[in-house]
Amino acid sequence: MKVAPSMLSADFSKLKEDIQEIVDAGADYLHIDLMDGQFVPNLSFGPMVYQSIRPSFDIVFDVHMMIDQPERYIEEVANAGADIITVHAEATHHIHRVLQQIKFFGKKAGVAINPGTSVAMIEPILNEVDLVLVMSVNPGFGGQTFIPSSLSKIEQLAQIRKENNYSYLIEVDGGVNELTGKQCLESGADILVAGSFIFNHPNRREAIQLLRN
Ligand code: DX5
Ligand code: ZN
Repeated sequence: MKVAPSMLSADFSKLKEDIQEIVDAGADYLHIDLMDGQFVPNLSFGPMVYQSIRPSFDIVFDVHMMIDQPERYIEEVANAGADIITVHAEATHHIHRVLQQIKFFGKKAGVAINPGTSVAMIEPILNEVDLVLVMSVNPGFGGQTFIPSSLSKIEQLAQIRKENNYSYLIEVDGGVNELTGKQCLESGADILVAGSFIFNHPNRREAIQLLRN
């Protein structure tokens, strides 16, 4: 399994140092949340922010686009240094086309679903994706409480993957801590995103270790 600390919880006044610390603490991916104030009721930052730290890190940049009509920005997001680009199924009329667009730029393509969206909605495109992101809170903010019904979606996705020999990774994002993280892994998740749990922990290495065990 992999741990992906969410940059949203970092201290932006010393972004590079903070990211260096979680890389040294054993992070597998850096999870990067882009918010447009439209798809979600919050704004974060644009691609130029992670572009500025890209040359300093080899770690996988896992970009989560919480943006309406993500097709408008795939090129910029890719060129700024994303390795994985995940778009929300709810944010576009043409999810299949957007996934092709991401692959055109040579990036791994992910699809995300909100807590109110069923796995069935994305079933037709599961053969096209490298990653499925199950949102376990309503996207927009760090520090919210894990929604337990997310676990059965993880189970469904693991089951569908097995039955069809698909290879996507299952990522879970929102309210992940020591306890909920364990439940996600037991349900079949491969990647745990965690913001506040890791960044607010007095010992970030220990926090990452707790999620692994
Ligand atoms: C929420 C973001 C998450 C967020 C997770 O909309 O997609 O990545 O940073 O934060 P925690 O782990 O604090 O719920
Ligand atoms: Zn996220």
